[in-house]
Amino acid sequence: MITEDPRHSWHPFSPSAAQNGEAICSALLPQLADNCRVFEIGSGTGQHAVRACLARPDLWWQPSERASELIALQANLERNPVPGVQTAMTFDALEPPATVPAFDALYTANTLHIMPPTAVESLFATLRNLMTPGQVFYSYGPFYFKDKPPVPSNLAFDASLRAANPDQGVRDLSWLVSLAAKSAVSLRATIEMPSNNTLLIWERLA
Ligand SMILES: C[S@@+](CC[C@H](N)C(=O)[O-])C[C@H]1O[C@@H](n2cnc3c(N)ncnc32)[C@H](O)[C@@H]1O
Repeated sequence: MITEDPRHSWHPFSPSAAQNGEAICSALLPQLADNCRVFEIGSGTGQHAVRACLARPDLWWQPSERASELIALQANLERNPVPGVQTAMTFDALEPPATVPAFDALYTANTLHIMPPTAVESLFATLRNLMTPGQVFYSYGPFYFKDKPPVPSNLAFDASLRAANPDQGVRDLSWLVSLAAKSAVSLRATIEMPSNNTLLIWERLA
């Protein structure tokens, strides 16, 4: 079992990141090659970055966040130093930078239902330039599938998100697939995760 080091302190702390981090690491880490360089979008508290690099000291992990969240993220990373986790950098899906440090795999968790649709579109549009053929993008979260009725917990979560902010909401996988196709990115696999979440595995085509 992979656990966060109890000596670590988190301000802010995300109970959900603590809860889903173990399942995510169990599904994600075996897929990453030795010495894999991971670029994470929307790192939030940084808990996933730290957990992953504690479990896999060979990883090089670049956390990123919107400018408004960067100081809090970096403070958390400095309170919880782990070799492999890099200094956090700004990455806003609405205005992605022209270049980012070289990476082997792209990762984001619990962000696509928080970003407004314009940011999701912008993120998928930038995959064409961000990724090179063969690179893989892992995105974790709740999604709607056109061939599966939505589960009550995701419907309730969706309703609560939209009540708080109409720009937020659980995304349709078919919409994401159509956005990805415009960037020559294809859905390679899906992994069912606990609590009706899914790890989507995307690949940049040639
Ligand atoms: C629910 S939190 C998830 C944080 C972390 N990935 C996790 O799973 O614990 C959603 C994150 O998406 C980030 N986010 C929202 N809009 C964004 C954007 N336009 N670009 C990058 N990140 C964004 C937020 O700042 C926030 O940290």
